[in-house]
This record gives sequence, C-alpha cells and structure tokens, in this order.
Amino acid sequence: GAPVSQDISALQDGQQLVLNWRGQPIYIAKRSKAMLATLPVMDPLVADPHSDASTQPAYAKNETRSIKPEIAVLVGVCTHLGCAPEFKPEVKPEPFDPDWKGGYFCPCHKSRYDLAGRVLKAQPAPLNLPVPPYHFEGDNTVVIG
Ligand code: FES
Repeated sequence: GAPVSQDISALQDGQQLVLNWRGQPIYIAKRSKAMLATLPVMDPLVADPHSDASTQPAYAKNETRSIKPEIAVLVGVCTHLGCAPEFKPEVKPEPFDPDWKGGYFCPCHKSRYDLAGRVLKAQPAPLNLPVPPYHFEGDNTVVIG
C-alpha cells in the first residue's frame, strides 16, 4: 500500500482524526500537556509500560510512543480480537476503574488503554495498540507508511 498523508493543522487538543491505511484505521490524536502528564502516572498501571512486547517503530518506543509528544499516531485495532477502540481523552474516575485517566476504550470486551495506547493491566487485550510507521513532512503533515 502507498503512504497516506494527512494534514493535521486543524487538530485541536483532545481531538482525533481517523484515516485508512492498508485497510486499517489509523488514529491521529492531539494530546494537551495535561493529557501527556497522565502518562507517567499510568506507568505502574499498564501491562507493558515500555512497550517492550508491543509493536512500534524504534523512534516511537519512548514515553509518549510518538515522534512529537503531543501527536499520537496509533493503529486503531484492539489487540484482543480486533475491534476499534473508542477515543476517550478525558474520563472522570469511575467506580469500576478509578485509576483510568482516559485514552482508548474497546467496546467489545471493555479493554482500556491509556492516552499512549498502552493497555491497562488485567484487560482482555494483552498488548498496547500498535504504532504504524510514520513521519512528518513540515510541521503539519503526517505521512503514514
Ligand atoms: Fe477489544 Fe476484545 S476486541 S476488548
């Protein structure tokens, strides 16, 4: 499949774009500083905090799982059975999961991921959402593939 370009200049904090790459949904989300601040808090609560067992390019194997901290680029395919997780950038603490700070929620079997696509512990999904190969052209164009 050919690379796919996406202009992200209109993307606001807490917003997500979805595009198609090789038949898979690609999620591009903009994270505010407050959202990024949740990631270290989630480290002890996620199953694979350093993404050692998960799939991403070497340049996205870091704290934010991204090239630019504020821009998340993820394959929107749940690592359990492949449903499309929903983007839930801000979640109030819920009685059934008080530690979740928002991220991605899979409606099929309720797997929760943080704002870097890292799956919480003890979810049906075993691994973090994959990061596809991508790069930037200028400040505002993301190229997937
Ligand atoms: Fe996502 Fe099962 S497919 S939790």
